[in-house]
Amino acid sequence: MKTVEIKPGIYWVGAIDWGVRDFHGYVTPNGTTYNNYLIMDEQITLVDTVKHDFADITIDNIRSIVDPTRIKNLVVNHIEPDHASSIDKVMELIPDATIYITEKGKKGLDRSFDTSRWKFIIVKSGHTLTIGKYTLLFLETPMLHWPDSMVTYVKEAKLLISQDAFGQHLATTARFDDEFVECASHAELEDAVIDYYANILMPFGKLIKNKIADIQKLGLEIDMIAPDHGIIWRSSSQKVIQDYLDMANGRAALRVAIIYDTMWHSTERMTIPLMQGIKDEGVDCKVIKLRASPMSVAVKEFWKSRGCLIGTPTLNNIMFPSVAEFMTHLRGLRPLNRITGAFGSFGWGGGAVKEAYEEFKRMNLEVVEPGVQVLYKPSAEDENQCYNFARGFAKKVKEYHGKF
Ligand code: FEO
Repeated sequence: MKTVEIKPGIYWVGAIDWGVRDFHGYVTPNGTTYNNYLIMDEQITLVDTVKHDFADITIDNIRSIVDPTRIKNLVVNHIEPDHASSIDKVMELIPDATIYITEKGKKGLDRSFDTSRWKFIIVKSGHTLTIGKYTLLFLETPMLHWPDSMVTYVKEAKLLISQDAFGQHLATTARFDDEFVECASHAELEDAVIDYYANILMPFGKLIKNKIADIQKLGLEIDMIAPDHGIIWRSSSQKVIQDYLDMANGRAALRVAIIYDTMWHSTERMTIPLMQGIKDEGVDCKVIKLRASPMSVAVKEFWKSRGCLIGTPTLNNIMFPSVAEFMTHLRGLRPLNRITGAFGSFGWGGGAVKEAYEEFKRMNLEVVEPGVQVLYKPSAEDENQCYNFARGFAKKVKEYHGKF
């Protein structure tokens, strides 16, 4: 796609990846974009690069505006390969350019490239670079979401180039939020923001709140947020900041996600009375079968809901492998402010439901015990027990939800 001028003299020069469906294990059904930005000023400055497969695309985009060899500065906000793996190709064109990067970013680049001939200036929060009419202010954002991460604020344009933060995995010809809402929908955009936050930023809620507070203390006026993935926030930059604060503060819907897997349909059968009990208590419910859904979708649905019931058959006295995989993944994301329970079927020894509760407790999540376990196949009595447990669980979800 052709370049787009997002502010006077500042251009999106990135690439759209319509085909990516597996983003280091995170399923991206809508593809993604790798956004980078060219600032045409006295010192021509490129902020970020793109994934290596798309190096020629961004270089051609730059070339459509200016001879790339005239670029004086390269700002590297983040070194994850989806943004930095084409740096060597870009630096071949601009060997005398200066790279502005955090100390940890430089250490990371040193591990991936021969950087011995590249010129670096290590930046810290508060450092500025005047490139002509524009001044760039660098703000480190360590662990949001890598140790090297930083953002670049273009003062006179009131533009925050935010690397992964506020991004979404959406391949689209729309470059701006209002364009996307017009050709797709607000709900689709919101879903993409939640999906991205849940799968990438969930562990960092406290850091997000602190960093947004730091930015607010600095009194930076933010008129536009340009992330490194997806659409640029032109019309609702303040709203997406508030959305991040709300998610960091534990925002969820009054809803229960039933996330399960099954061997011979017994655990699956239990989801029916469970779902009905939740519904009859006036709480919305969504049921997700793990082997039928990408992990990132299950994580997103978990994150959207105040409550979660995990369903697992017992296999060899422990949780079913796909459920164990989900629980391990979830533990790494350090979820907060959710209430949980467990259910499942077993043939002889049992053990999976107990293990699921142990996992939830390790995550310091609220639990409603004892859950429901059934031997072999659920009987009518078992189904009644599921229904009653679900009603009780939904009541607890409503009480807990009231705290937020
Ligand atoms: Fe889009 Fe952390 O890379």
